Amino acid sequence: MPSDAVPPDRVPERLRYHPLRVRRIVEETPEARSLVFEVPSGLAGAFAYEAGQFVTIRVARQGRTHLRSYSMSSAPEVDGELRVTVKRVPGGLVSNWLNDAVGEGDVLDVARPGGSFVLDRGGHDIVAFAAGSGITPVFSILKTALATTGRRVRLLYANRAREAAIFGDELDALAGRHPDRLAVEHHEDLARGFVDRGTVARHAAGAGDAAFYICGPDGFMDVAEAGLRDLGVGQDRIRIERFTPAEQPATGPADGIEVTVKLGGKTATVAHRHNATLLQTARSAGLRAPSSCEAGTCATCMARVVQGRAVMRNNEALTPDEVDEGWVLTCQAVPASPVVEVVYE
Ligand SMILES: Cc1cc2nc3c(=O)[nH]c(=O)nc-3n(C[C@H](O)[C@H](O)[C@H](O)COP(=O)(O)OP(=O)(O)OC[C@H]3O[C@@H](n4cnc5c(N)ncnc54)[C@H](O)[C@@H]3O)c2cc1C
Ligand code: FES
Repeated sequence: MPSDAVPPDRVPERLRYHPLRVRRIVEETPEARSLVFEVPSGLAGAFAYEAGQFVTIRVARQGRTHLRSYSMSSAPEVDGELRVTVKRVPGGLVSNWLNDAVGEGDVLDVARPGGSFVLDRGGHDIVAFAAGSGITPVFSILKTALATTGRRVRLLYANRAREAAIFGDELDALAGRHPDRLAVEHHEDLARGFVDRGTVARHAAGAGDAAFYICGPDGFMDVAEAGLRDLGVGQDRIRIERFTPAEQPATGPADGIEVTVKLGGKTATVAHRHNATLLQTARSAGLRAPSSCEAGTCATCMARVVQGRAVMRNNEALTPDEVDEGWVLTCQAVPASPVVEVVYE
């Protein structure tokens, strides 16, 4: 049974935040800017990344700590730098602060890259669907695919209007340099309405056994996924990155399981409600447990089970060794024993 006192050298590297200086800022559109980070040589290994991955930034605002993930819009093989691109969310705390208040030379706390929305190793064509800020990991992936493989890529890129399209000009220039390998179709919602299944089917027509990538607002991703299903595309060929947590199922009545949560010097013991994850349980106990994707990919919510057992519905972030040590993604973990104790580091 793991003890709840994790020695500092056993705390996974992914939970450590490193101060990185903002070397350069690029205003991409009135609603989005890119931050290029300076990675010291001593951290080059920790901050090596694959196209499509993200980093998590820790920000102290309004007396609280907030963790937000941002995908790299740079591609390691092409750009030689680590750049994230942040689009404003109306009313959003961190995205607007990163757009308004952060300047070149400022230092932000950043955790090492992670994520499984990366270029597959297959040799098939790539068909991508992106909307809004969802272009960031897709842009990274398609740049790497063009630079390191001979694969053909087609992208359907939806925005309210063309001038809101982040990297719109860069994408068109890239397509100009790779006329036989990259096709970019800009979809303007104001002119054509939201992307529907018919648009998805037209974009994917004749794609054969392509690999499909989808990233954008929930409604857009649902339509793209449904459109591909209509065409008989199997789930194993579709890769999706969610920026906002998927709908959580409603939690049920108490089921006799007792959960103790330790976080930031506080301890709470509560009755578990059927179906609730450990993250939901921690929140129901009044604790401000960290999270970002709530989909099992970012590891922001990881904590250690020190008594009892919990099983994860999805784990795309933790290594087998971390799981053996008792770490769980609390957004995905549900109790599997009558008593569970979980400790956030
Ligand atoms: C793996 C991953 C990668 C991501 N990559 C990027 C990226 O490359 N660029 C980028 O701009 N963002 C990205 N995000 C989203 C980012 O982490 C934040 O969620 C986003 O910036 C909003 O944070 P906020 O503090 O401004 O908003 P909050 O203050 O957290 O939220 C304000 C309101 O907006 C809603 N909301 C939150 N996020 C979004 C969203 N993305 N779209 C619409 N409504 C939202 C919330 O439900 C809430 O109602 C990514 C998220 C994940 C999980
Ligand atoms: S919040 Fe991202 S894995 Fe749990």
